[in-house]
Amino acid sequence: MRAAIITASDSGYAGQREDLSGSAIREILEQNGYEVVRQILLPDDRKMLAEEMARIADEGEAELLLTTGGTGFSPRDCMPEATADVSERMVPGIPEAMRAYSMTITPRAMLSRAAAGIRRQTLIINLPGSPKAVRESLIYILPALGHGLDILTGRASDCARK
Ligand code: MTE
Repeated sequence: MRAAIITASDSGYAGQREDLSGSAIREILEQNGYEVVRQILLPDDRKMLAEEMARIADEGEAELLLTTGGTGFSPRDCMPEATADVSERMVPGIPEAMRAYSMTITPRAMLSRAAAGIRRQTLIINLPGSPKAVRESLIYILPALGHGLDILTGRASDCARK
């Protein structure tokens, strides 16, 4: 499966901070057999984030689109809103699972407003912003994603098969 990564960070976009979270996602995806076809850094701008997500899905560039950052309470945090703007169907179970697991690590996990949704044949998932939170969340959800992507792309139709 092909994957794309979008990091939302005003300071990263301004060149003031290294994108360690995007790199952490890339490393985990590649270790798990995904081909990372794009990794981009954007500011916390709802329109720019939504446009890039829509473009990746509409051009069929990747089946999985993972984002990092912009899920908290800061006034500029808008990743869940940008995700909802472009999603045709929401997938609440994935962020619910991330938060439930992450709550066993830190009560601050409840502060992530992460969302997930489907546009065409692309699954978009928001991960939190820090490299630590990215690793904890992604490693937990990865085992279930392959089956979801198989169904989404028509490679599987039978959930009863293991
Ligand atoms: N989830 C995990 N697994 N581990 C963490 O350390 N940090 C939380 C939360 N989710 C955390 C986590 C914190 S402190 C915040 S503020 C929110 O994610 C939102 O992060 P973001 O605004 O960087 O996206």
